[in-house]
Amino acid sequence: MLNLIIAEAALELVPSEISRHASVRNDASRRELDPSRILLDRSIHHAAMLKLRDDYKRGRPDLVHLTLLSVTSTPLYQTGRVKVFIHTCDDVVLEFREGTRPPKSYFRFRDLMQQTLVERPDSGLITLFEATVPRLLKRIGSDPAIGLSVQGKPISLEDLAARLEGAENPAVLVGGFPKGHFTPQTTEALDELARIDANPMDAHVVAARLVYEVEKAHGKSSS
Ligand SMILES: C[S@@+](CC[C@H](N)C(=O)[O-])C[C@H]1O[C@@H](n2cnc3c(N)ncnc32)[C@H](O)[C@@H]1O
Repeated sequence: MLNLIIAEAALELVPSEISRHASVRNDASRRELDPSRILLDRSIHHAAMLKLRDDYKRGRPDLVHLTLLSVTSTPLYQTGRVKVFIHTCDDVVLEFREGTRPPKSYFRFRDLMQQTLVERPDSGLITLFEATVPRLLKRIGSDPAIGLSVQGKPISLEDLAARLEGAENPAVLVGGFPKGHFTPQTTEALDELARIDANPMDAHVVAARLVYEVEKAHGKSSS
C-alpha cells in the first residue's frame, strides 16, 4: 500500500490576522459566512495575503483539489492500493478512508473542506488530526519516506516505482503548494528527496505520473 501525502498543502481557513481585510469581508458577506469559516484563496484574497508569512506558498485550494482528483480517479486508488493524506501548511492532516471519492466539483470540495476544518467532524470518510510531517510519518510508520522535489536527487519514475513496489509501507510526499520548496522540518524527516524530471511540474501532473508508474510496476510484479 502506497501512502501518498499532499504535503504543506495550500489549504487553510482565512487566518485571523487578515479576517478584517476588505477582500475577505466582501467575500464572506457575499457567501453569508463568517470570515473565519472560509478558505483562504489567492484568486479572491490576493491583496490581503500580501501581509502573510510565506504568502507565495498559500491560498491555493484549487491546486490541492486537482491533485487529490488526479490520485483518487485512478485504478490504483479505486482498488485500495493507495492511501491519501492532505497535510496542510498549518499542520492539520486530513486522512481519507480508502476508496473515499472527493467531490469533482470545486465548489462542493471547497464547501466540504470549510466544513471539515471548522467543525472537525469524524465522518468516518475523512479523519482530521493535527500533526507535523515528522509526526505524520511516524504515525504511518512509513518506510521509506520519499519527498518529490526539483531539489532532489535525479531518479527515473520507473526506478522510483520499482522501489516503492518492493517496499512494505512506503510514503511519497508531493508538495501541495504552487511555488517554493519543502521546509527544512519536512526535508529532515525524509529518507530521500527525489527529482523525477529536470523541469518543475504542477503537483497534479507529478501525482498522476507517479500513480500510473506504480500501477505499471505492480502489473509487472504480479504477472
Ligand atoms: C509546483 S511544484 C512546487 C514548486 C517547486 N519549485 C518544486 O518543483 O519543487 C509542486 C510539487 O510538485 C513536485 N514536483 C514538481 N516538479 C518536480 C520534479 N521535477 N521532480 C520531483 N518533484 C516535482 C514537488 O513535490 C513539488 O513540491
